[in-house]
Amino acid sequence: MSSSILSAVENRSTELSLRNAKKRRDIVIGTAVDMTALRYQSNYRQIVAREFDACVAENAFKQYEVWMGPETYDFTETDRLVEFAQDNNMALRGHTLIWHQGVPQWLLKGRFAPEAVKQVLQQYIHTFVSRYRSQICAWDVVNEAIADDMDPQDTPGLRTDSFWYQTLGPDYIALAFQWAHAADPQAKLYYNDYEAEVIGRKSDLVYALVKRLREQSIPIHGVGLQGHMELGWNRAQAMRPNVRRLVALGLEWQITEADIRIPLQDGEATQEQLERQANEYAELLEVCQGERGCTGFLVWGASDAHSWIPGFRPGWGASLLLDGKLSTKPAYEAVRTVLQQD
Ligand code: G3I
Repeated sequence: MSSSILSAVENRSTELSLRNAKKRRDIVIGTAVDMTALRYQSNYRQIVAREFDACVAENAFKQYEVWMGPETYDFTETDRLVEFAQDNNMALRGHTLIWHQGVPQWLLKGRFAPEAVKQVLQQYIHTFVSRYRSQICAWDVVNEAIADDMDPQDTPGLRTDSFWYQTLGPDYIALAFQWAHAADPQAKLYYNDYEAEVIGRKSDLVYALVKRLREQSIPIHGVGLQGHMELGWNRAQAMRPNVRRLVALGLEWQITEADIRIPLQDGEATQEQLERQANEYAELLEVCQGERGCTGFLVWGASDAHSWIPGFRPGWGASLLLDGKLSTKPAYEAVRTVLQQD
């Protein structure tokens, strides 16, 4: 372990961590977890357990990581994360049972009949959710089912390029929630999506979808607003009317994948950018703490060394609370200050 990373870990051991600073017991502060880092980097493991009281697998709970064949599953990594969360008294989110990007290749290319797909999907959800009954604080049952641009079909904005839509039709969404609920009646079941944080076309479609599910008595309990943002978007305050209408449906909500990406200058973020990022993280968390119904604030990675952003948007990065050496950034301090408000 390099001395700078070691000192970052040792320094943290004496200061108030995010989870210990938090006054609100009804809201978890969490992070996505990189299972490779969790397994092989003790400093990463220590930081995640120290700073957060919730976690979610960045990838380990996705179908392509777990579902190996029609009735074949590999729960090695999911068991590992469940154990880590339990050992460290952390809430665990299950991300995600159904996602158009999560379909395993054997299913995508298997030319199965729709009825067979429905049968194995129900069995997958039943097996997975039952395995971790009462150990998952919230399941992202369906992730990103709403189309980004207006879909020419007369569907209510659903993503028709989804394997699930094409194979099972729009009812796959309600079925997934019903199957998950049957497997664990106590689990909180979420719909999760991005760019649906503020009032607009996509959030209107998300609202219409979850409103329809509620009206059909489909067991859905919350909406995950992912919170992938760019520095300068400043969307926090504009979220308020959107989350209020979700709460009015009787739903809770979480910010499930927050990151605020920065356009780097020569590969680095400037101090001015980091200060602005700190303010924008603080405002996001203040909306979560200030509005009814928010039960979680999770960042999409424990440090800038464990972020999807550089691969997704070359030239952008520095999007999380800790830097690449696991040292705190202004955003960390700002979030910790807000967490200390009750
Ligand atoms: O583990 C393999 C490695 O063995 C292989 O050498 C390498 C190159 O092929 O791929 C590695 O797997 C990659 C995995 O991340 C782990 O790094 C996958 O190819 C890559 O597709 C996967 O990307 C993830 C992406 O979801 C797709 O699942 C990102 O890490 C993850 O941050 C991103 O997370 C999504 C949320 O689930 C949903 N919301 C949006 C968010 C960002 O896209």
